[in-house]
This record gives sequence, C-alpha cells and structure tokens, in this order.
Amino acid sequence: MSDAHGHDEWVVRPASAQDGANCSAEDYAALYSRSLDDTDAFWAEQAERLDWITVPSTIADWSFDPVRIKWFEDGALNICHNAVDRHVEAGRGDALALIFEPDDPAGEVRRITYAELKAEVIRMANTLKKLGVGKGDRVTIYMPMVPEGAYAMLACARIGAIHSVIFGGFSPEAIAGRVEDCRSDWIVTADEGLRGGKRIPLKANVDAALEKVPAKGVLVLRHTGGDITMREGRDHWYHELSDGVSAECPCEEMNAEDPLFILYTSGSTGKPKGVLHTTGGYAVWTETTFRYVFDYRPGEVYWCTADIGWVTGHSYIVYGPLLNGATALMFEGVPNYPDHDRFWAVCEKHKVNIFYTAPTAIRALMREGDSHVTKHDLSSLRLLGSVGEPINPEAWRWYHDTVGKGAIPVIDTWWQTETGGVMITTLPGAHDMKPGSAGKPFFGVCPQLVGNEGEVLEGAAAGNLCITRSWPGQARTVYGDHDRFVQTYFSTYKGKYFTGDGCRRDSDGYYWITGRVDDVINVSGHRMGTAEVESALVLHPKVSEAAVVGYPHDIKGQGIYCYVTLMEGDEPSDDLYSELRQWVRKEIGPIATPDHLHFTPALPKTRSGKIMRRILRKIAEDDYGALGDTSTLADPGVVESLIDGRQNR
Ligand code: WT7
Repeated sequence: MSDAHGHDEWVVRPASAQDGANCSAEDYAALYSRSLDDTDAFWAEQAERLDWITVPSTIADWSFDPVRIKWFEDGALNICHNAVDRHVEAGRGDALALIFEPDDPAGEVRRITYAELKAEVIRMANTLKKLGVGKGDRVTIYMPMVPEGAYAMLACARIGAIHSVIFGGFSPEAIAGRVEDCRSDWIVTADEGLRGGKRIPLKANVDAALEKVPAKGVLVLRHTGGDITMREGRDHWYHELSDGVSAECPCEEMNAEDPLFILYTSGSTGKPKGVLHTTGGYAVWTETTFRYVFDYRPGEVYWCTADIGWVTGHSYIVYGPLLNGATALMFEGVPNYPDHDRFWAVCEKHKVNIFYTAPTAIRALMREGDSHVTKHDLSSLRLLGSVGEPINPEAWRWYHDTVGKGAIPVIDTWWQTETGGVMITTLPGAHDMKPGSAGKPFFGVCPQLVGNEGEVLEGAAAGNLCITRSWPGQARTVYGDHDRFVQTYFSTYKGKYFTGDGCRRDSDGYYWITGRVDDVINVSGHRMGTAEVESALVLHPKVSEAAVVGYPHDIKGQGIYCYVTLMEGDEPSDDLYSELRQWVRKEIGPIATPDHLHFTPALPKTRSGKIMRRILRKIAEDDYGALGDTSTLADPGVVESLIDGRQNR
C-alpha cells in the first residue's frame, strides 16, 4: 500500500510539520558529501559557531590503527563559557535556559534564564574551588534531576575539573567502584532525591560508599529536607558553603583535547568502563547534532526525559541544548506519577515543542490507553524523538499517530555513550521516516557493515555495525586504561570502531539496528553488562555459578534472565529467589534487578569449560527448536534439564 506521496505504507513523511526545517534532502546530500570529502573545512565551519580562545588550525588528526584520536588539537576554549556566558554576552541573558518541573505536579516550577544560570554556575564553581577542587580533578556528581545537577556539571567544566556523573539509581557499591576507579576526591550530592513520590536516599548511599573509599569532601544540596547525617570536616551543606562566595569566576582556558567528563558504562566483560570525552570535539559535536537533529528554533521548549546520569542527559539535556541557547525542560519525576498522563500533562503545561524519550516509556504509556494522551492539548508539539533501543513499529505508530496526531515527525536517533552524540538519525525535513529504522548517517559518520570474518558488506545487507572514520564527538579513551579502549572498540575489526551492535542496511541506505551482538543487554534503554550481574550473583554465599542473558520483554525491550547454580547443599526456594533479586538490586541498583531466575544444577559448557550462552539465550527466549549444534557440550543432558526447568516455571 502506498500513501499520498507514493511511498510504501511504512514510509512516513508529514511534510507540513517539516516546513522550514533547517536541512532539506538536497542540503543533507550536499552537506554529507562535504563532511566526508572536505572534512576539515566542514568541521572548521561548524566549530565557528562557538567562541574559541584560540581558534584551532588543525581540525581532524586521527587513526584507528594505531588508535589516536584528536580534533581541534591546538584550539582552546571553555565549554561552560559557550553554553552559558556566550549567550548572556550576546544579549540573550533574559532567555530561558532551563525549566524545572518537580516530581510533585503541585510543586514549584523553576524558570532559570541564561543570566541566572550564569550566576548559579559561578556560585557552584566558586564553592567547588573553596573545597579545593582544581583543574584536572575528578568530581563525582550523584544528584537528583534538579537544576543544581546541571549547575554542578557546568561548574566543573568552568574550572576545568572533570565530572563523573553517576545515575541516582545506582547503589553504594556502584558509587564506590566508580569513585575509586577515577580517584575522585569530591562528591556533589543532595540529601535525597524524589521520584514518583518516593524518597531516594542519595546522601545515605554516598555515606555507605565512602565507608569503602575515601573522599576529601562532599557537597550536599538541601533538596527534600530529609534527615541525613553530616560528617564533620568532610560534608558541607551547599547553601552554607556557597554563602558569600564571589559572583565572579573566570572560565578556565582548556585545550580542545583536555578531558571534559568521564561517564561509566557497561561492557561485555568486567566492571563498567569510564568513557572519557574531551572538550572541543564534544562541544562541536553536541552543538551541531542538537541543531540539526532537533531542528531547534529560537524560543522553543525542548524536553528530553532522560536523566543527567546517562549520556543522553549529558549531551541532550545539558550541553547540546545550552550550547544552542535553547530552553531545556528538566523533569524530576517519572512517567506514571501521579498518573499515566504525566508526560502529556507536562507537555501541555509547559507548551513543549520538541519531545525526546525512550521506546520503553512509549510502550509502557501506550499500554495504559489513549485517553491519557487525548485529554491533553498537545498542539505545541512539533517534533518527537526516540533514543536508547530500537523502536518497534507498533510503538512508533502509536507515538506518531496518538501523541503526534499523525502530523509531526518522529525521529529515531541511534548513538552510544562512546559516540558522544547522535550518529544515525532521520533528519527532519531531509529524510522520510521508516518506523523501526534509525535512519541515515549524520554528517561525518561513516557506518560500515562487517561480516563475522571481517568482510565488508556492501549495499542491502546485515552485519556488525562499525564506523570507519573518526568524528569530533568520539570518546578518546577509557579513563586510566587505554589498552581496554583499544581492545574493546578497535581490535575486533582492525582499523574500525566496532559499536557492538548488529545492523541491517536496506536498499534505500537506511540503517536498522537489530540489537547488541555482544554480552551487553539493553534494559529499558539502559546498558547492562551480563558479566556485572553475574559477578553480583556469585558474591552471594549460596550461589556457585551464574550466567545471565537478555530475553525479549514487552516493556523493557530486554529483560534480565539469570541462570543460577547453587552451592552444594543449598536448595532453591521462593525465599532464596526473592533474596537473590534483592541482592543484585542492592549490589548494582534497581535497574539491574533480575526479571527471572532459573535455578539449575548445571550450566551448559563446552569441554573446555566455556559457558554456551547461545543456548542459554535461546532457552530464555523459549526458542527450543533452534538450539543449534550442541555436540561440543561436555554434558548434553544439561540442555534437556534446562528446557524442563524453563517449561515448569
Ligand atoms: C546502545 C548504547 C544513545 C544514548 C542512550 C543509550 C542501543 C541506542 C538506539 C536506537 C537502536 C539503540 C544500541 C547502542 N541504542 N539508541 N535509536 N536504536 N538501538 O546509550 O547506554 O551507551 O547504549 O543502545 O544497542 O549500542 P548507551
């Protein structure tokens, strides 16, 4: 079936809503070619939108074999100046930078102009300095979704400190591991967070983490006013310590390749990696991608529902929007509190124009019925975005038809913590949309599909997604472990950046991400290393062995399925089942809570002792017909008993 534009039914182009878009199909073609043929000129031009203390004369300087990635190498700038002061100096101090919508819909909305943002960031920056924080120091930020979280990030950037934001849902164990890994002496937190009416004990979690690792100072924002303990000499109330600090704080001059932040993300092996982003390339990348991908127009209200604890919050709540002088909404709460219409109520209340969320939220809200959407006036919406995992066509349709009234574009955006910003997307105005496809490469991005033997696949094909050329926003290293960076991303296919994702390219050149091909699972748009969950499980005294895989989950995209072998003499029980779930939750955080535990006397292993995850994945998916070759198993009987265990659950 074709629509009025003669496209197949799954190709959608609401042209009316794209009128005036800053990039037409012709523009895209021309700019994309130029970004590859004349890379330096293209990025030098994009970089001109920022204020540089020293304008870079070298633009791209990179190699993937050996690995060496530098952009704007001899340039100097400060990203906080660019995101904040620059707009004030240009006479836009009265424009709104942030709108804060609290967890409680009756709570106080805060509207922060660029001039106010500058004053707040300076206050935070001088308070950090007062604590002793200096250029190059790592500062851990463990904050609720309140403007002070953004102030803390920008304040670090202002004084040249490296921020490491930890999502407020992570456990004390996880905090300790990250603080230790980057040897961060300073922590910025709040008494408590608020999510869906529940209090999150942020300061208590920090206290528990600091029993395991030392810290010189903890800066505490009073947010809920809840009871907490303050340790003399180490802990400081923000409102007290910031009292009387100077209203001036110069922006530190940073080399383009000076570190901006570390963000921990899960990999297929070992503990989370501290992905490091630097200043100049990240600034240019987030400024440019935000401008084109969201087609932002002055005065519009933009809302990304992510948390600043994830890269989406870094790039598309804080840096991308603010570098563009945009108005970004920060929401403290959750989609279903006080009711399932909260997202739409907030869109109506703040006349949101651009809305960016994750498929898992769309699926959860879709299930609650259309009335939650239709009772709100969503006529301000102009653009809808999706990120975090492949969006299934059904969810895409609902988002497009019910939320967008069939009249505005839905753009998908594929990227990763390591890519710093959007890599594959449908640009509004330029591309037709295909529900479920991430779209086409952004400027400067060279995707390549590679077969398992390393062969390059041309045309319509499916394979492992690699990127063959560097782009400004690319991560530079894994903090403190450059070998791991090289190993993880550049060794599977030599000379290429390997994303870890499987992908199909259709005959129109659209990319369709099929999911991770490594031992990473995607739970509600969040990356989880199966190895991390396994390590947490085997820490329990009754667990002898564990193997964790993902399986399809209606709402979360993937659920966490854990095969558990108990110690000799220990028996499975309902109590142990809940105890182990709680245990993982406590070790890592609520997002890692197993969805299903499968007790088994043994795991399928090869004769050399390697766990055959392929089989475990198939059984978790209830796909028993396709177990493939089991002849290399040390004990083929294990498989039957696993299938039995699955069917009797
Ligand atoms: C992984 C990266 C990008 C910020 C949020 C997640 C998956 C992400 C999409 C998308 C299909 C997607 C990939 C990727 N992913 N966006 N639009 N379509 N898959 O960042 O935690 O670093 O996870 O998320 O598997 O590798 P992250």
